Amino acid sequence: MIVFTEKKALKIYLSNFKAQNKTIGFVPTMGALHQGHLSLIKKAQQKTDIVVVSVFVNPTQFNRQEDLIKYPKTLKNDIKLLETISCDVLFNPSVEEIYSENIISEKFDFDGLEHKMEGEFREGHFDGVGTVVKTLFEIVSPNKAYFGQKDFQQLKIIKKMVKKNGLNVKIKGCIIFREEDGLAMSSRNTRLSEEQRNAAPFIYKTLKKVREKFSAENADLIIDWVKNQFKKHPLLTIEYFTIADEKTLKTIKNKESGKKYRAFIAVFVGEIRLIDNIRLKN
Ligand code: PAJ
Repeated sequence: MIVFTEKKALKIYLSNFKAQNKTIGFVPTMGALHQGHLSLIKKAQQKTDIVVVSVFVNPTQFNRQEDLIKYPKTLKNDIKLLETISCDVLFNPSVEEIYSENIISEKFDFDGLEHKMEGEFREGHFDGVGTVVKTLFEIVSPNKAYFGQKDFQQLKIIKKMVKKNGLNVKIKGCIIFREEDGLAMSSRNTRLSEEQRNAAPFIYKTLKKVREKFSAENADLIIDWVKNQFKKHPLLTIEYFTIADEKTLKTIKNKESGKKYRAFIAVFVGEIRLIDNIRLKN
């Protein structure tokens, strides 16, 4: 695997492949890699000729400074993991390399997708994500880029950004990778204490019950039921739970046939914030 820290060198390297009509797959990450990230990279390896992974903890998408500081940084281990799956290229730039002196976000209009859920509770988050992903796309100019449904709202927003800016990259959504007990894999899971880690699978267990209930019960009742389940839980505090239209991410009013719905949740386990979602069947 070749590691680049400078965009200029990476661009020159990739231009050789482009000249040979090779396709470039790209997987942007913030590092602290786990099997969920690797599943995206493996998908990219199946579908493209050369795969670039970026590890960059993007300061502009953190609304809480503390969360940025405490974000796990495990570059040595990330490199080891990437080498086990024969990843071609790692791009690991510094903050200055991406932002120069101005560590600020561009302002985006994602047609309303940005206002709910993560956007509502993490001010400026999606401007930060949009800014860094657009910059990384300019550097790598991939044919295909892979994102996890774990961050479903992010996936929708990236697709919107690509469409609105006429970028020439196909965005591929990949399924959520889970631990054996159902907990969605996340870099943040490593920050959980043993007790918190044992409690966290409750999130996905509840989502699965929501999926069972959704065919027969009214969405408002289900939302109340979920909130109650978490009120009773000693370690988990709900930030939001909603059932929304997959296309618009607007909260469901009445179930309509032909529409696809998904349940979305954000939970605090102590000070660690976890998110998850599940596809529902009408
Ligand atoms: P990060 O949280 O590191 O995630 C990188 C990619 O891995 C995202 O597309 C995310 O959805 C995916 N991912 C994370 N956990 C997953 C899981 N359990 N199963 C499947 N995919 C999973 O998302 C970001 O970084 C950043 O916002 C980024 C897009 C890199 C911009 O800074």
